[in-house]
Amino acid sequence: MADPQAVLEAAFPLLSDRHDLAGKRVVLTSGGTHEPIDPVRFIANRSSGKMGRAIAMEALVRGADVTVVTGPVVTPLPHGAHVIEVETAVEMAEACVSLAQDADVFIGCAAVADYRVDKAGGQKRKRTGKGLTLNLVENPDILGLVGAVKQSGQVVVGFAAETRDLVKNAKTKVKKKHLDLILACTVGEAESGFGAPTLKGAFIDREGHVDKLPVLPKEELAEHLIDRVVALMR
Ligand code: PMT
Repeated sequence: MADPQAVLEAAFPLLSDRHDLAGKRVVLTSGGTHEPIDPVRFIANRSSGKMGRAIAMEALVRGADVTVVTGPVVTPLPHGAHVIEVETAVEMAEACVSLAQDADVFIGCAAVADYRVDKAGGQKRKRTGKGLTLNLVENPDILGLVGAVKQSGQVVVGFAAETRDLVKNAKTKVKKKHLDLILACTVGEAESGFGAPTLKGAFIDREGHVDKLPVLPKEELAEHLIDRVVALMR
């Protein structure tokens, strides 16, 4: 017998009466990236992949063809999604730039490392007794690259993870990355952020309209997000 979870996840789209993404291709980034320091150590963040999983599941239920480009995470992705596993931001960028060309919707949910270690060592670094200085160089801005070449009819959505000035910082990202919509969320609180089952934040659209949200389960936020994507596609 097939895995019961796979059966359940295959049944959800069949039982749904909302197929408003039928025939649409959704490409989504999820999880965090690992940036190597040497062959055994890396710089990472606390993304669990829960928010990405929730969005992938909701898009599948609504009839979309879903591809998730994911960094290393503990949360399994829904069985109906095409999954591309990557480790670093550079690998994620390479996968996304070509996938985005054929996508109707691109959603950047991943917590992508903004920096990587320049010349990560090929051998395990040893203690020297003198401390260690790492030279960090900027990673590509994946969402920025996708937004800059956005095609007509395509919807590009981002996230903004903030510990302060939520709306102000998110509005800057909407403009800089040419987004149609952003979900700005507070991180670093027990009920909102990396690994938590819930998030608190606000949707901000390209006209600058702000819709503040209470603390919501990530699954419920995913439903609101896909509702807005469908509205933007119309
Ligand atoms: O995985 P969970 O534990 O459920 O947590 C979910 C989450 C908190 C990670 C998620 O909701 C979230 O907020 N993701 C975005 C985190 C982030 O990196 O935010 P940012 O403000 O640094 O980046 C802004 C946007 O640009 C994001 O859409 C990000 O995916 C994208 N980005 C950032 C840097 C980069 N080099 N390339 C990018 O594409």
